[in-house]
Amino acid sequence: MKVIKNFNVIAVIFLLFILSSPIFAETTAESGGGLESIIKIMVAVTAFLVAVIMWLVLVYSEKSESAEESGFRKLMQMLNQRPSIDDEQKLLLDHDFDGIKELNNKIPPWFMAIFYGSMLWAAYYMVDYHILGSGNVQEDEYAAEVQVAAMEREILNKSGALVNEETVTVLDDVAAIASGKEIFIKNCAACHGMNGEGLVGPNFTDDYWIHGNKINDLFKTIKYGVPQKGMISWQAQLDPTQMQEVASYILTLRGTNPPNQKAPEGDLYTYE
Ligand code: HEC
Repeated sequence: MKVIKNFNVIAVIFLLFILSSPIFAETTAESGGGLESIIKIMVAVTAFLVAVIMWLVLVYSEKSESAEESGFRKLMQMLNQRPSIDDEQKLLLDHDFDGIKELNNKIPPWFMAIFYGSMLWAAYYMVDYHILGSGNVQEDEYAAEVQVAAMEREILNKSGALVNEETVTVLDDVAAIASGKEIFIKNCAACHGMNGEGLVGPNFTDDYWIHGNKINDLFKTIKYGVPQKGMISWQAQLDPTQMQEVASYILTLRGTNPPNQKAPEGDLYTYE
């Protein structure tokens, strides 16, 4: 009997843990949930404390003299409906395996409550999440997270954390070059010529460069400008990706040999 009593304690605590575990799961799934996740953690902690208190009450009631009559005992009896030892004879089944006998015990109400409760929950979940659509199914949660990530990426990009003069690389996909060309025609052609042949600003189609021929050099000049020489800083007008695109476009102009080229300026760079 002692063993069965202890089993009750474990069952109650285990149940509370199971009930609180989805709260933990959601907390980890939600990144940057801020206040919401703090509330969830508090709920989980409260559930844990309730489990501890229940356990203490149980331990206390086991020891107390009038334990048989305590309210907690009655509640436990209601949840378990364990037959008294006197009824054992009635419950005894006609099975005997080497002296081991079997009792036809009722399935305890707490188990049935969870069983039917989970069915009700499933029905509610089905209607709420799949028919009414008021709950966020995984797909919607995913879409929302992707949206947040895209916004964060946009902010990072604007801040120059992703693409700067140190990390910039040459883009060679058609869309990026086309976008770079568009930016060039709109903002740069007035000084560098429609085809990059040079006007007020230097020629981009020859092998001569004032500030270097690497993508990093171009990016740096575009970003910070050379104000005293008439090349303005573009970081207020163009975001880092746009500066990367236009720099990549400029690099494609080398050797295109357009008419009306401006005389070379700067140093001759050798290309293999
Ligand atoms: C108002 C005229 C003007 C505009 C507009 C202008 N530039 Fe310039 N740019 C210059 C001048 C002048 C220089 C030469 C600076 C120097 O002598 O150091 C220059 C230099 C450069 C260089 C360095 C070239 C080298 O030889 O090292 C790059 C790259 C460049 N510009 C890109 C751009 C891009 C991209 C844009 C458009 C987003 C742009 N520029 C718009 C005038 C301009």
